[in-house]
Amino acid sequence: MKILVTGANGQLGNEMKNVLEKECPGITLYTDIQELDLLDAQAVELFVLKNEITHIVNCAAYTAVDRAEEDKALCAAVNIDAVKNLANAADAVGAKIIHISTDYVFDGTAHRPYKESDKVNPMSQYGTTKRTGETALIALAPESIIIRTSWLYSPYGNNFVKTMIRLGKERSQLKVVCDQVGTPTYAKDLAKAIYVILMSHQWVEGIYHFSNEGACSWYDFTKSIHRIAGIKTCEVLPIPTEDYPTAATRPAYSILNKSKIKATYGLEIPYWEESLQECINRLEITE
Ligand SMILES: NC(=O)c1ccc[n+]([C@@H]2O[C@H](COP(=O)([O-])OP(=O)(O)OC[C@H]3O[C@@H](n4cnc5c(N)ncnc54)[C@H](OP(=O)(O)O)[C@@H]3O)[C@@H](O)[C@H]2O)c1
Repeated sequence: MKILVTGANGQLGNEMKNVLEKECPGITLYTDIQELDLLDAQAVELFVLKNEITHIVNCAAYTAVDRAEEDKALCAAVNIDAVKNLANAADAVGAKIIHISTDYVFDGTAHRPYKESDKVNPMSQYGTTKRTGETALIALAPESIIIRTSWLYSPYGNNFVKTMIRLGKERSQLKVVCDQVGTPTYAKDLAKAIYVILMSHQWVEGIYHFSNEGACSWYDFTKSIHRIAGIKTCEVLPIPTEDYPTAATRPAYSILNKSKIKATYGLEIPYWEESLQECINRLEITE
């Protein structure tokens, strides 16, 4: 087994590295754009061939959701063309792919957690390109596994948890959207789930949903972040989406139904606040 983790400098990529180096050191190569630009089809194919890669975990993506509305070409290139390049390279050597997608493939009009088979209807350039990346991958490498996740955070890079801790320390008041509901996902928990799939004896192709357990609004999430981080000097006020306009439209409801991944791979998924506690503990240690 020889694994390639792409986007290794990102949130999920870093957590994949932590999990894989602890559990099975030495069998994985980690690349980001500096080592392997996924837009270079020839380089991707050569890398996969030369290193006899058997499994690819694609953590690379264009994830700047609002910037994507302007930066359309690069967003499409990374979220679609790079996925095609990986699929073609995998096909050439018979490697398997685990690819990560997003709750933004949905329009957020549901009233119960989204199943993998529910109708997609992305509302943003990011969501649209991620959905096209999914369909391109299924067409070129139908044995792939695609995991849609939501509200990803970690001790790495920029994310909502780190931003709310910083703003909570800087400001006396914060207004946060209370009418968008979803589930935070601790990237370490997703990395562990991907590890279970990689090491499992059964490879069941298709789309899966993964987030932590439970649900909350961005407002609830912020209140918990501040409580756990011990921030008491910032008042957090709930506001409706219309009072916080953003370039990209976000789904108002994006809770994912995780029954399929739990049943197929026997996963036990932590409740979102327990994982948030662990992440904030790690942040306090590293700061
Ligand atoms: N973040 C979220 O809230 C969220 C929610 C749902 C789903 N997801 C999905 O989860 C996955 C992981 O997200 P994440 O937050 O870990 O992403 P991230 O932190 O933004 O990391 C993505 C990495 O991919 C790299 N990359 C970009 N273009 C590349 C290229 N041409 N070749 C090679 N690498 C390239 C980026 O490098 P640069 O930084 O230099 O561009 C970055 O290091 C993605 O598929 C994302 O769509 C994320």
